[in-house]
Amino acid sequence: MTPHAICVHQPGDATVLSYEPVDVAAPGAGEVLLRQTAIGVNFIDIYFRTGLYPTNLPCILGQEAAGVVEAVGPGVTEFQPGDRVAYAGVMGAYATHRLINAARLVPVPDGVSDELAAGTLLRGMTAQYLIKRTFPVAPGMTVLIHAAAGGVGQIASQWARALGAKVIGTVGSTSKAELARHWCDYVINYSEEDFAQRVREITGGQGVPVVYDGVGAATFEGSLDSLSLRGMLVSFGNASGAVPPFAPVLLSQKGSLFLTRPTLAHYTATREELLATAADYFAALANGMVKAGVGQRYALTDAAQAHRDLAARKTTGGIVLLP
Ligand SMILES: NC(=O)c1ccc[n+]([C@@H]2O[C@H](COP(=O)([O-])OP(=O)(O)OC[C@H]3O[C@@H](n4cnc5c(N)ncnc54)[C@H](OP(=O)(O)O)[C@@H]3O)[C@@H](O)[C@H]2O)c1
Repeated sequence: MTPHAICVHQPGDATVLSYEPVDVAAPGAGEVLLRQTAIGVNFIDIYFRTGLYPTNLPCILGQEAAGVVEAVGPGVTEFQPGDRVAYAGVMGAYATHRLINAARLVPVPDGVSDELAAGTLLRGMTAQYLIKRTFPVAPGMTVLIHAAAGGVGQIASQWARALGAKVIGTVGSTSKAELARHWCDYVINYSEEDFAQRVREITGGQGVPVVYDGVGAATFEGSLDSLSLRGMLVSFGNASGAVPPFAPVLLSQKGSLFLTRPTLAHYTATREELLATAADYFAALANGMVKAGVGQRYALTDAAQAHRDLAARKTTGGIVLLP
């Protein structure tokens, strides 16, 4: 089969996604040739498509996939042809085949399907660093997690609860509220309710020590208003748009708050961190702390529809494209 990929030549709406034949060379030093079996769709793909996150064009979109090693280049000792592997956070995933630096691959354990790895590794590793390393949750702590029915939200909520925290999750619809009730102690539909006010009620006026906010612009102020004194806003995404500039004194006025804007790449910067983060996520799946799933499947050629559904808040959990 001729390798194909979804390319973007100029930023824009989902119609700029173009399925095209591509050349894939033999792997060079340190590289692996991968035949991809399932590809993850993440919100960050939309940011790159629209130009919110700038990148060199033309590009092949996508950050995450699973597949089988077809060939290895000189110096690759960790992997061999036939190995099942996955990766997250490496541009160029919307393709049937690709070359990739072997140092960015992780082995996929038996018992984890290619679809599950491709559809949830990026979100699972994100949840891992957010709730265990950016602001570690602790037993008895009450935390607020936005978009709790979404990809990162589902995993982070389940995991935080398994670690002993009480989870307040926000969602945008009644049907998502029903879903999120399976893993949140309290669910707030922020399309209908003032979530900061509800958080105050739930916490007896105290507020929460941490808010994990991947929604961005629409929730920023309310997230600050949900925090207890010296609490931390972990602002990790822009699903509703980027948080606008603000004066740092706002953090003082709202309770000597902390704000961090983390990204997965900086929490998986070394090979050791990457392997440990992925292994911790796969262990959480294996021991039942987290039940992650792929909620939506599309043909690779239908990537535009996957983007439309994700942007229109129609999806829950992981999303995969199948080559
Ligand atoms: N910094 C990092 O390392 C990192 C890594 C991975 C993901 N992220 C971020 O985490 C967030 C979640 O990513 P995901 O891929 O798992 O997506 P997702 O949560 O499955 O989808 C985004 C959700 O955000 C909510 N949302 C609220 N307002 C929205 C709006 N105006 N437009 C679209 N969605 C809106 C929707 O849930 P409701 O309908 O329930 O409101 C939607 O389902 C994204 O912001 C993403 O960029 C960050």
